[in-house]
Amino acid sequence: MQLNEEQQEMLDGKKGVPKKKAMEILTKLGEIYGAEKMVPVTSVHMPGSSVVVAGHAGTKFVENMAAEKGFFSPFTTLNTGACDLSRQENTIGFPEDMVEMQKRLTGAYEKMGGCTLHSCVPYLNGNVPRKGEHIAWGESSAIIFANSVLGAYTNREGGPTALAAALTGCVPEYGLHLKENRRGQVLVDVKVLLTATEEFGALGYYVGEICEERIPVFTGIEKANLDQLKMLGAALASSGAVALYHIVGITPEAPTLEAAFGGLQPQQEVNYGEAEKKTAFAKLNRTGEDSIQIVALGCPHASISEIREVAELLAGRQVKDGVKLWVMTAFPIKALAERLGYVKIIEDAGGLMVCDTCIILAPMKTVIERDGLASLATNSAKLAHYAPGQWGFKVHYGSAAQCIEAAVNGRWNLK
Ligand code: F3S
Repeated sequence: MQLNEEQQEMLDGKKGVPKKKAMEILTKLGEIYGAEKMVPVTSVHMPGSSVVVAGHAGTKFVENMAAEKGFFSPFTTLNTGACDLSRQENTIGFPEDMVEMQKRLTGAYEKMGGCTLHSCVPYLNGNVPRKGEHIAWGESSAIIFANSVLGAYTNREGGPTALAAALTGCVPEYGLHLKENRRGQVLVDVKVLLTATEEFGALGYYVGEICEERIPVFTGIEKANLDQLKMLGAALASSGAVALYHIVGITPEAPTLEAAFGGLQPQQEVNYGEAEKKTAFAKLNRTGEDSIQIVALGCPHASISEIREVAELLAGRQVKDGVKLWVMTAFPIKALAERLGYVKIIEDAGGLMVCDTCIILAPMKTVIERDGLASLATNSAKLAHYAPGQWGFKVHYGSAAQCIEAAVNGRWNLK
């Protein structure tokens, strides 16, 4: 690989141990993928920021980097952590040793200049790359949003490579950093009118399974708001490993069908009609069990408009005794929701605003056992996909309104 002078000095150890180790990781990665050079990145989003993922070894590694005076040059935000650091008390009751370890990990990142956002929606919280910017992001739902909706260029970074990018300010130029690799591969003709947000999640879930790592191009979608694009991408990246999608006439690299495919022919054509939509919803509702113990909204972390919807649906009502309602979001969005009175409405009704963490990346086992949580309702296809494997939940999937009804009644689709 060709390195510029500064990159070579980092590799030679002239800029300190953390940058040397980081450059060794990146040059090795570049060699594996046949990159010719490094490309500077303007932003990093750090996966593995939860101690549930990092564990003792990962936490120690990051602490060592901080002790050796590693420092992040690009703006770097942290992905979702393992507990709600915005609260003085350990309200949810996660194991104290995990809370302590999370504080150590967050502290080490902060010492290196990391922005301790702890959220999977950095793009709603100040880390907002523009079209054509090269970035190094982890967290599948954030990666696909950055590539598809913002038109930024990122590969799917893991913990070590994102950390290396933050320390050096560059990544090897391969994969989605190259324009020719961003062309669509699978044509998806959507033949049903999509209006509700959960319909976008179901579409993503259906198509992700077919595409695996390939890039879908959607036609037939007339409009989609930010929350819907967020849910579509998160679902595509859950049932599949999709890192980029195009919607003709909506996303920035797809002004036309021809532009989306870069003049090439699709490898496969898929129709998405009523039958496929029904299949997608059936796959996401994999239980006949009607009783619900926990309702979780905000995966990816809820936007302020999603929190407003929850507050409107809950106003003047009460969550059923013994049922939990979690609304998961980022700390700055919770602060805004507090100012707007939404947090009060949700918590007066018996719900809980949870920030910095989520059901998948928190140490939920003790909470699940303590509170006998078995069935979960959500409006997130991503959460519906991961909750059974990660924590053994039986899952119902539907709209935010259906989820709030489940929270109030303790049952799914109570007639
Ligand atoms: Fe975010 Fe956790 Fe879902 S990181 S995308 S809320 S699984």
